Amino acid sequence: MLQVISSLKDIQQNIKALKENRSTIGFVPTMGGLHEGHLSLVRQAKAENDKVVVSIFVNPLQFGENEDFKQYPRTLDNDCELLSQEGIDIAFNPDALEMYPGGFCTSVTLGCFEDKLCGRSRPGHFRGVAVVVLKLLHLIKPDIAYFGQKDFQQTVIIKKMVSDLNIAVAIKVLPTIRDQGGLALSSRNAYLGGQEKKDALCLYKALTKAQSMVNTGIVNTEEIIREMGKIITSCKSASIDYVSVVNPETLETVPKAQSGNVAALAVRIGKTRLIDNIILMLMIAFFIHLPVLSANWLYNS
Ligand code: PAJ
Repeated sequence: MLQVISSLKDIQQNIKALKENRSTIGFVPTMGGLHEGHLSLVRQAKAENDKVVVSIFVNPLQFGENEDFKQYPRTLDNDCELLSQEGIDIAFNPDALEMYPGGFCTSVTLGCFEDKLCGRSRPGHFRGVAVVVLKLLHLIKPDIAYFGQKDFQQTVIIKKMVSDLNIAVAIKVLPTIRDQGGLALSSRNAYLGGQEKKDALCLYKALTKAQSMVNTGIVNTEEIIREMGKIITSCKSASIDYVSVVNPETLETVPKAQSGNVAALAVRIGKTRLIDNIILMLMIAFFIHLPVLSANWLYNS
């Protein structure tokens, strides 16, 4: 049965008991508003660990002053119902004041990663993410923590923090779950009106355009970005925050696309800022890697 825990002391006691029983712990950090994207992480965690903890916490530190902290979907009852159906053990829903009591002042800086991609238009965002994830990893002490590729820059930053600070946890990144039209599932999709939902498909269209250009041998990223931009700007309600093709480790823009580079974008549809990305695959490399990809797929399914 799902236990909903709010107090930091209670979660620490529960985790201590699990550790004494030598249970392995899978952890899925979320801000709630759960959808199939979150549930894909939850299911993988359930399949690979004795116990699973899912945190539900709308982290004030990662929202800028003019961002949507107040409007962010808070659907705790429904989230808990979904987690119960998945047979999850613990939902951790901490209180903001307990997480950040008066006088809290510690931060995590992230060097050159902070001002790349989303970092440019959301200053301080990734510091907020890093602080909360670090705190949660200390509280839950998981063996494996699960993240979605949809927030690609977030995964890069968390892997780097875990490696730089020698945190004893394995980080697993799972593929982006999309709706039938290709729109990446996101709690923020709830903000979109009917027409905006249709317009939002331009993100995935632009990303698939990048892949199809690469398929035909066009690897000049300026050209790719220009074509992606055309698709997005042809959509009335869309405005571009950034469109980029980057090295997946440094997040630096690359002049020529190679297999493994990431096409990433952030676009406002009306007032809603959406992000998405895909890992580009050069066809020749695709066929060379096919046996490995198939083996991975068989292993993961
Ligand atoms: P949130 O946006 O709720 O996402 C929680 C996790 O679900 C993240 O790892 C995110 O990448 C993943 N996720 C979201 N949409 C997904 C999709 N369509 N397919 C696959 N995975 C998806 O990301 C955060 O919360 C916060 O920044 C957090 C890490 C919890 C720190 O506050």
